Amino acid sequence: MHPMLNIAVKAARKAGSVITRASEDIEGLTVNKKSYNDFVSEVDVTSEKIIIDILKEAYPNHSFLGEESGLSEDSDNIWIIDPLDGTTNFLHNFPQYAISIALMQKGEITQGVVYDPNRNDLFTASKGQGAFLNDRRIRVSKKNKMRDALIGTGFPFRDFKYLSDYLKILEDIIVNTSGVRRPGAAALDLAYVAAGWLDGFWEIGLSKWDIAAGGLIVREAGGIVSDFSEKQDWLESGNIICSNPYIYEPFIRLVQKRLPKELKN
Ligand code: IPD
Ligand code: CA
Ligand code: CA
Repeated sequence: MHPMLNIAVKAARKAGSVITRASEDIEGLTVNKKSYNDFVSEVDVTSEKIIIDILKEAYPNHSFLGEESGLSEDSDNIWIIDPLDGTTNFLHNFPQYAISIALMQKGEITQGVVYDPNRNDLFTASKGQGAFLNDRRIRVSKKNKMRDALIGTGFPFRDFKYLSDYLKILEDIIVNTSGVRRPGAAALDLAYVAAGWLDGFWEIGLSKWDIAAGGLIVREAGGIVSDFSEKQDWLESGNIICSNPYIYEPFIRLVQKRLPKELKN
């Protein structure tokens, strides 16, 4: 394993054990509201601090972009961290949440870790080296018909600006596939596409920390990742679609069909 990935894995596992311990007493946690339907618990904050401390010790000159602490400073090496992806699930004891850590070097994602502490599933990738679940190589699925595909997504739940547009797209996807899932942690949704458990995934308006690691993992598993215009602006825009290469074309056509103009760039 690449030494940088190794440090990120160490950080993710340490944060995972703190999250797991906290999940035994959710009622006792201090929870604050960041905005409508957007909660942050003391565990999100502690998890991020643990991760940054471990990475900083190994790489004192690197920078950090964490969901809870923001960007430390700009540099050629930025660790992009979601200390707890799926906070709403976590706060309900719904066992679908993860830690996501990626390294961006000169604008390019080179390392990615998504760790699910409930199942002890560790998804990793280093650029050009393939994707792994624990010690096993993973690849995207081979399903080649939309009709047979299982598609993941995220519903809008904080910002409802595009809700009605989203629902029209969802309707088309429901009608044309074998099923749709909304598990509630985008980083894991992407990892599931990489593992071939989902055949594709799309969501509007995600943040860098939700998708940086998972996007690399999907690519390294042989999947296609893009924004809704088939361009590579997904990390910046947060509008992401990905799938195995066989259904990418019909999948993006369906999403584009009822997409509002302003989301097409
Ligand atoms: C959220 C989850 C969710 C997605 C949201 C994200 P958080 O992250 O990934 O699946 O639909 O858009 O913000 O807030 O739980 O870290
Ligand atoms: Ca997140
Ligand atoms: Ca989070």
